[in-house]
Amino acid sequence: MSVNGTRVVSVGHYQPEKVLTNDDLAKMVDTNDEWIVSRVGIKERRIAAEDEKVADMAIHAARQALENAGLQPGDIDMVLVATVSAKDTCPNTACRVADALGISTPAAMDVNTACSGFEYALAQADMAIRVGSATRALVVGAEKLTAVTDWEDRTSCVLFGDGAGAVVVEGTDDPELAISPVVWGSEPSMSDVIRIEEDVPYIKQAGQTVFRWATTQLAPLIEQVAERAGVKIDELAAFVPHQANLRIIQGIAKRLDFSDDCVIAEDIVYSGNTSAASVPLALSKLVQSGKVPSGAPILLFGFGGGLTYAGQVIRCP
Ligand SMILES: CC(C)(COP(=O)(O)OP(=O)(O)OC[C@H]1O[C@@H](n2cnc3c(N)ncnc32)[C@H](O)[C@@H]1OP(=O)(O)O)[C@@H](O)C(=O)NCCC(=O)NCCS
Repeated sequence: MSVNGTRVVSVGHYQPEKVLTNDDLAKMVDTNDEWIVSRVGIKERRIAAEDEKVADMAIHAARQALENAGLQPGDIDMVLVATVSAKDTCPNTACRVADALGISTPAAMDVNTACSGFEYALAQADMAIRVGSATRALVVGAEKLTAVTDWEDRTSCVLFGDGAGAVVVEGTDDPELAISPVVWGSEPSMSDVIRIEEDVPYIKQAGQTVFRWATTQLAPLIEQVAERAGVKIDELAAFVPHQANLRIIQGIAKRLDFSDDCVIAEDIVYSGNTSAASVPLALSKLVQSGKVPSGAPILLFGFGGGLTYAGQVIRCP
């Protein structure tokens, strides 16, 4: 049965226990806390255990989101996992999550658009439910970026961390609560700017090019997201951007005149860049903090490898 719209009903997240501080990194490569904090704002990041897979983290986050929704596995008929770092490609991570949670016959798919993966996956869940091809979806972002990090490259190894975040999405007939139409796209001519490739299976990026793109090109796209949602920037309860880099977040926030308390930027400081996991991770912590009232608008925006970007406005569950 088709519905007019969908809404996020719950959140969940997971981070591995092991913390890697900037001082720890300074023992591994020629770097220091002051350089890292001043360039990217990161103080520490979480590192998955050697035998901990992307699927394991996705399962923890998804289970929490399901429990927080007060739902049973049989209530879910779609599982989407956004990831760029899962080493196991078959079965996909979504099937692993479904199996672990006892979800019997869902549509199950992984989505790879790197750091915008969660927003792309959320948009696909929204569309599938609206046209009646699914009833309720688990949408997860999960990454083990430390498994694709070159630990000898000081320009990149200081940036990344591991973790997972998840939401449950279901239909609603209340337009006030509905997820807004996604604004999404890519810059294929810049596909070489961030890479994880067969011959060099580590994240390689042209850092300054990414920085320039993010701080000059993204603000108008984020405005478009708000416009499509019919919400003004100053009406947003929170702006949850991809936690790539504190300076990028601050640059975008300044261009769009966001008030400081609206911009969610703490997770980059304590989690590092966790790619597709970063927005659902930060969102889950925000919702669980109780700082945003239920029904208040939250703008999500992801951007990264591809280059790709996507964003939408959701209502706080
Ligand atoms: C990666 C990034 C922090 C590098 O900062 P930068 O100011 O561009 O730094 P540069 O690469 O020009 O290097 C400047 C100097 O710092 C040095 N440096 C690089 N990494 C360092 C580190 N971890 N510690 C100490 N010094 C470092 C460089 O070797 C260079 O030294 P040199 O001038 O003697 O050659 C920055 O480009 C950035 O934030 N880019 C965006 C990356 C991103 O967010 N990607 C994900 C998007 S999804």
